[in-house]
Amino acid sequence: MQKGRILIVDDDPLVRDVLAAIFFTHGQYVTESAADGMAGIEKVKSGDYDVVFTDLTMPGITGIDFMRAAVKLKPSLPVVVITGNSTIDNAINAMREGARDFITKPFNVATVTSVADRIVGEKRLLSSIDNGDNRDSFIGRLNSELFKRLQEISILQAISTELDTLYNNKDIYEKIVEMAARLLTVKEVSFGIIEVGALKMRKAVGMSERDVPLSGTLFERVVTTGRHYLASFGETNPFTGALLTAPFFAIPFAINEEVFGIMCLANKGDGTAFTDDEVSLALTFAKKAAQRIENNALYEVFYNNLINTLKSLVISIEARDSYTKDHSERVTAYALRIADAMHLNAEERDALAFGGYLHDIGKIGVRDTILMKPGELTPEERAEINLHPVIGGNIIKPLRFFPKERDLILHHHENFDGSGYPDGLAGTNIPVTARILAVADAYDAMTSSRPYRPSRTHKLAAAELLRCSHSQFDAEIVRAFLQTLG
Ligand SMILES: [Fe+2]
Repeated sequence: MQKGRILIVDDDPLVRDVLAAIFFTHGQYVTESAADGMAGIEKVKSGDYDVVFTDLTMPGITGIDFMRAAVKLKPSLPVVVITGNSTIDNAINAMREGARDFITKPFNVATVTSVADRIVGEKRLLSSIDNGDNRDSFIGRLNSELFKRLQEISILQAISTELDTLYNNKDIYEKIVEMAARLLTVKEVSFGIIEVGALKMRKAVGMSERDVPLSGTLFERVVTTGRHYLASFGETNPFTGALLTAPFFAIPFAINEEVFGIMCLANKGDGTAFTDDEVSLALTFAKKAAQRIENNALYEVFYNNLINTLKSLVISIEARDSYTKDHSERVTAYALRIADAMHLNAEERDALAFGGYLHDIGKIGVRDTILMKPGELTPEERAEINLHPVIGGNIIKPLRFFPKERDLILHHHENFDGSGYPDGLAGTNIPVTARILAVADAYDAMTSSRPYRPSRTHKLAAAELLRCSHSQFDAEIVRAFLQTLG
């Protein structure tokens, strides 16, 4: 089989014959030859060659001039120069002028044929890209590869920016479903957690939010194999028990190869099956999202340990002062009753549940002699005690997960009229959690006994709260609180 057509331009007939013999015998090439540059130009004009081999030093025009003229005629025609060892510099110059390669005399058969094979092979590849459909499909292939990579990178970025700010599992599950619907343009998405033999739904869009027993469903297969499953027409929909009328895609979420949840995707809208690209996109997404959930689980362990540590700190503070024993616990309970009566959101309620317990943690920085002083405090001692919200805020500050708790601790001694400390905030500039805690704190302080006075009755304490509404306290909160006490 013929590999290609080669033109040999050389004034030495021996060189032309030897090269022709090598190309024919070892390379199955058809060759033609010319004895000088001008004859070579004529050949290039009329013939169709895959590669030209030319001598550099010839009578008439030089090999370089011939090459320039040939390339002008056929811009994609590769030219290889033939040179003796003594003129290797010329060969290098020729390369700079645009020669594709050079070969040296005397010839090495293997080198000569491999140069021809390589150049002809490259030319074929380039021309297959150059013309029509092949070119488009080649560029199309490149583009789709690039597109896939870009998509993957943008998903990873989106996951980190959208999920990394969430610390609550419920928020993360909701975001996962919302992102999957958006990224994979499906109308039905759900996410559930595996619990005691069932898939307990956490969030669904366009799908049932019903929990599904695993047994006998395709979910069981996903959990046992740890692999995703693409169900098609005629298989059973695990949610409804009916036969599927559209492709259904179940993807496991795993930590340490243990499947803890399943995301389902269905209904692309156009009724088509999931493509390989969509499957790999979904799997990349699931893997990253599972890692985020795993981090969150680790964080929760850390969070719980931390809460326990801080609670034991509070207990140690309260143990120093028997009069304030269980004060934080009671204040938190009052504050949560107010929060419920005022329909605070979950985040604010959580801040009160945790922050309420810790609100006086800054007292750990106040000297015992002041903290437990039976009589009136001097102005200096009062100033030292008044530092405790700032000290408490600083204790919580490095824990970036608790901004609301920190606000609460820092501002629980602000007054509604702006006369409190440490910042003199007024009205609704004081976080609502801190305004609530101030009321709960004052009520508990009044109704429990202190070294310098016995406890007051509920009636007197309530009257005092009402008297200080608008000045020290938020009147709306006082009203809500007194209602909860009946
Ligand atoms: Fe306090």
